[in-house]
Amino acid sequence: MNKPLDPALLQPGQAFADWQANRASRIDPAAEATAQDAGRRVGVSRPHESAHLHVAGAAPYIDDLPELAGTLHAALGLSPVAHGRVTGLDLAAVRAVPGVVAVLTAADIPGVNDCGSIVHDEPILAELVTGPDGAVCGGELRYLGQPVFAVIARSREAARRAAALAKQAIRCEPLPPVLSPREAHARGQYVLPPMHLTRTQAPADGEAALAAVRAALAAAPHRLTTALEVGGQEQFYLEGQISYAIPREDRGIQLHCSTQHPTEMQHLVAHALGLASHRVQVECRRMGGGFGGKESQSAPFACIAAVAAAKLQRPVKLRLDRDDDFLITGRRHCFSYDIDVGYDDEGRVLASEVSMISRAGHSADLSAPVMTRALCHYDNAYWLPEVAMHGYCAKTNTQSNTAFRGFGGPQGAIAIENVMDSIARRLGKDPLEVRRVNFYGRTERNVTPYTQVVSDNVIHGLVDELAASSGYAARRAEIAAWNADSPVLKRGLALTPVKFGISFNVKHFNQAGALVHVYADGSILVNHGGTEMGQGLNTKVAQVVAHELGVDFGRVRVTATDTQKVANTSATAASTGSDLNGKAAQDAARQIRERLAPLAAARLGVEPSALVFANDRVQAGTASMGFAELVAAAYVERIQLWSDGFYATPGLSWNRETLRGRPFYYFAYGAACSEVVVDTLTGEWKLLRADVLHDVGRSLNPAVDIGQVEGAFIQGMGWLTMEELVWHPTTGKLMTHAPSTYKIPTANDCPPVFDVRLFQGENVEDSIHRSKAVGEPPLLLPFSVFFAIRDAVSAAGGHRVDPPLSAPATSEAILRALTAVQAGAA
Ligand code: MTE
Ligand code: MOS
Repeated sequence: MNKPLDPALLQPGQAFADWQANRASRIDPAAEATAQDAGRRVGVSRPHESAHLHVAGAAPYIDDLPELAGTLHAALGLSPVAHGRVTGLDLAAVRAVPGVVAVLTAADIPGVNDCGSIVHDEPILAELVTGPDGAVCGGELRYLGQPVFAVIARSREAARRAAALAKQAIRCEPLPPVLSPREAHARGQYVLPPMHLTRTQAPADGEAALAAVRAALAAAPHRLTTALEVGGQEQFYLEGQISYAIPREDRGIQLHCSTQHPTEMQHLVAHALGLASHRVQVECRRMGGGFGGKESQSAPFACIAAVAAAKLQRPVKLRLDRDDDFLITGRRHCFSYDIDVGYDDEGRVLASEVSMISRAGHSADLSAPVMTRALCHYDNAYWLPEVAMHGYCAKTNTQSNTAFRGFGGPQGAIAIENVMDSIARRLGKDPLEVRRVNFYGRTERNVTPYTQVVSDNVIHGLVDELAASSGYAARRAEIAAWNADSPVLKRGLALTPVKFGISFNVKHFNQAGALVHVYADGSILVNHGGTEMGQGLNTKVAQVVAHELGVDFGRVRVTATDTQKVANTSATAASTGSDLNGKAAQDAARQIRERLAPLAAARLGVEPSALVFANDRVQAGTASMGFAELVAAAYVERIQLWSDGFYATPGLSWNRETLRGRPFYYFAYGAACSEVVVDTLTGEWKLLRADVLHDVGRSLNPAVDIGQVEGAFIQGMGWLTMEELVWHPTTGKLMTHAPSTYKIPTANDCPPVFDVRLFQGENVEDSIHRSKAVGEPPLLLPFSVFFAIRDAVSAAGGHRVDPPLSAPATSEAILRALTAVQAGAA
């Protein structure tokens, strides 16, 4: 007999109402109102700066910008094979489609045909070879979906119709493709040299260090040798890739581009056009999501639109449809792991060696830093005294994989979490107990494999607090009892920790600039190098400026990111947006305040040091004047009312050769406890409850931060449980290239109980108002969902067999693991 589940738990749509009801209590509006009244503009929940526009459909995305007269539209002709040699290109039929104005190939790119972000190995349009007669007679096709030519037409419809003739236009000899990372690894086919990171307690280097780790493995009382497969993930930003290029005077190009990295788009467009950077302006007011997918991969579209606009001297818009977006661009790297671990009776990991093979795709893109971050997160929250890691970025005939929230960190950390889970099962212990004995110590056992000391560890207290508030121990016992009576439905529970390093591994990326204008009427305009993709960066930066100048939030407006305003910016990535740009904007605002202070002091008859800028006024004791009044007076006194600001993260170092240093300014921590129910007949499952405690230091904006944690949690859950990428095994076509075949989570997948709280604490480093970055770390929280599913599957075999469950844990994968577990237990 199966025990019935509370039907309310399975009610779809339940989640949202509960979540709304629950949320107010987590934000503490009373405390925030007091803080606000006291003049604080940070640490208070503000709605997203564009929320009123988002909900009214009045927030323009690039495709909403009014089109200039004469605008043309581009569509791309794609490689029909995964690997091949071009033998000819016949564009006559493409050109003949009514409305077509031009068809461009690599030969039409006046500058460099490359948009690789680090390694210059990525053609914008496929490299073609022309014979003495000028006809195309060669060239390499690297993946099915690679852009080969661009059609420019009077309407988007016409451009697409013509581009769809690519299959007939491109003549090629197919070559055997390499489609799986394991196969590429077996052939030693990589986009960049393998990386190795070894740390041992023995005084040994290089080969000797590896030998020491292996000796420690051999000497360990228990040994676990296993393999794991973790799938990739499509960013699925709701606004697809888009660029709108407008020719400006004297060879100038203005580009509206949905990108996380306007500066890189500026550089790549300039290179493609053979121009200096000062002729190219890139602007982005907002993205309809980026999630890493628009860090480097907005580039080919930016370049193609710009090349076409420059050549035809007409505005050109290139907006991909969803299928092309899937087929052309890359996504999160899937990883394959071979893991060897030695541990003791307590479950302490004594030694481990792991090989990580990622699917880089046809070019390097950001695969190197993604792998570096994976290697630097294999430790997650755990002290690994003896460890050897090998990272291989496999070159395959598929889309070039790229950044996706977490940037390799999730792929690194899930491997060790799988190890912790397996060790516990093998020792018959609670996985949380095994995790705890492996945690980094506070003052010892606290050096990461890459030699950075973990000096801000809060994981012990954080996990204790969550274990208590989620009732972990009692529920574990209750679930065991329930499962004993329930042969078909099995419940599972898991509590997993997160430690995530904040900063770009490349030191010089950790800089930012800002520009703050105070107008004579007292209104304030802020510009900074970061981009807004929904994460609330502009809101936080505006709060920082309002706080610094002591003004009402309504005075401050943030405008589009623009390479003509702040130069040489970094990508808005690695979760560093508010850390970097918040500090830069604070620097600018502070300078303005310091210029205003002497005038205010003179008018109020006090010392400048006695002044307080707060609540839209400048006060000294009982004397005060309004901010706007002060600004008006300052203008007349010819005081500069605008300022730039700059910030560079201190204390960082990184050696790319030895993979050692201090790559991270600090760590963000978190933990989640998830409970699922699995139907062992169908493999279907449901998340019943998730309790989250996440460390954002002293939050700049609790509502925005909680939203980021919730979003990342559900997005990470999608990655690990339902989003599955399938390439055709022989043609190499990505078969899951639309929402019809690729399933992302929806509101109905939110658990009925979703209790997300912010850990009370502050950054020990001097970050912006002692906050911590929030964008990516919570993506690792739903590891708890994956391991809760593994726990439920394990229960079906009486916890005697370690479930061979890979990610995504789709219903099929769950059924396969169940079959193995039941066979093994029988
Ligand atoms: N949140 C929303 N709504 N949309 C996004 O595209 N991107 C994530 C995260 N949160 C993203 C998001 C990623 S991948 C990163 S690196 C950070 O936001 C970037 O912004 P931040 O540095 O300002 O946090
Ligand atoms: Mo986020 S993956 O660093 O854009």
